[in-house]
Amino acid sequence: MHLGSFPQTRLRRLRRTPALRRMVQETVLTVNDFIYPLFVVHGKGVRREVPSMPGVYQLSVDEAVREAEEVAALGIPAVILFGIPAHKDPIGTENFDPEGIIPKAIRAIKQAVPDLVVITDVCMCEYTDHGHCGIVREGEVVNDETLEIYGKVAVTHAQAGADMVAPSGMMDGQVAAIRRALDEAGYAHIPIMAYAAKYASHFYGPFRDAAQSPPQFGDRRGYQMNPANVREALREVALDIAEGADIVMVKPALAYLDVIRAVREAFPVPVAAYNVSGEYAMVKAAAQRGWLDERAVTLEILTAIKRAGADLILTYHAKEVAQWLHNAR
Ligand code: PBG
Repeated sequence: MHLGSFPQTRLRRLRRTPALRRMVQETVLTVNDFIYPLFVVHGKGVRREVPSMPGVYQLSVDEAVREAEEVAALGIPAVILFGIPAHKDPIGTENFDPEGIIPKAIRAIKQAVPDLVVITDVCMCEYTDHGHCGIVREGEVVNDETLEIYGKVAVTHAQAGADMVAPSGMMDGQVAAIRRALDEAGYAHIPIMAYAAKYASHFYGPFRDAAQSPPQFGDRRGYQMNPANVREALREVALDIAEGADIVMVKPALAYLDVIRAVREAFPVPVAAYNVSGEYAMVKAAAQRGWLDERAVTLEILTAIKRAGADLILTYHAKEVAQWLHNAR
């Protein structure tokens, strides 16, 4: 490639006016890029703000429907649902109960806004009394027994009308198990968005307040990935694609842009990135103190995540950004 040299080449020529800058902009955020997370709780008229996530609420089903209507009106194509059950137990029974919180929310949202894509998180940590993402035996999270439950949960969500499921527990073989369970139940058309490269990150702290899901003993390093690894992420992604993943996710996003880039370059599948709770909380906290310009910084972060190679971004900022993008027109 001939790169040119000064004084023939002056890169500032194409930066001189807003219109010129617009013409050569390489990465453009749109509302189509976003997936908005919702936390659903039992009850009616509940709208409880998560202290570490200003602007994010635990919502009862009726309130979640209102939120979903707002999301759809803003042009955001999808939500991802997380449920907080009425009771927790060792295997998380409410997780695969057709009358559980998530099936209720799916049915209500699909009825109110049929075109909104409803994705569900398939995991166990919100539902288990020990707070781990699988069945625990003698202090260990056991893999293969957990897969059976994931399959049941995914089918329960599909039966309630979910458009896509997103396994996030980081058990080996979870995509294959869920794919098989869905196919056998007649849901071969339901895609899987796999949390493929999910790291054992401290950026999930505020989410665990929102979903009331912190592990009650130990941590998740026995199943989630070591933040120091990138080759391993490529193996996780390759396995998930081989098992039938339709979309693969890297999580978190901001501190893992190199992982997003590596996955983007190695695989021809849609890549999602999760701009997680801690990333959101940092921006909100600094903005509240007047230390950062929230709008500018958020747009810069999300553009960077897309520039790194993400096709889709799960972000708590989705509604605000959708508004900013509309107003900028
Ligand atoms: C469930 C799950 C978690 C997140 C998404 N799904 C928490 C965890 O693994 O502890 C985190 C999302 C966020 O921090 O915004 N396993």
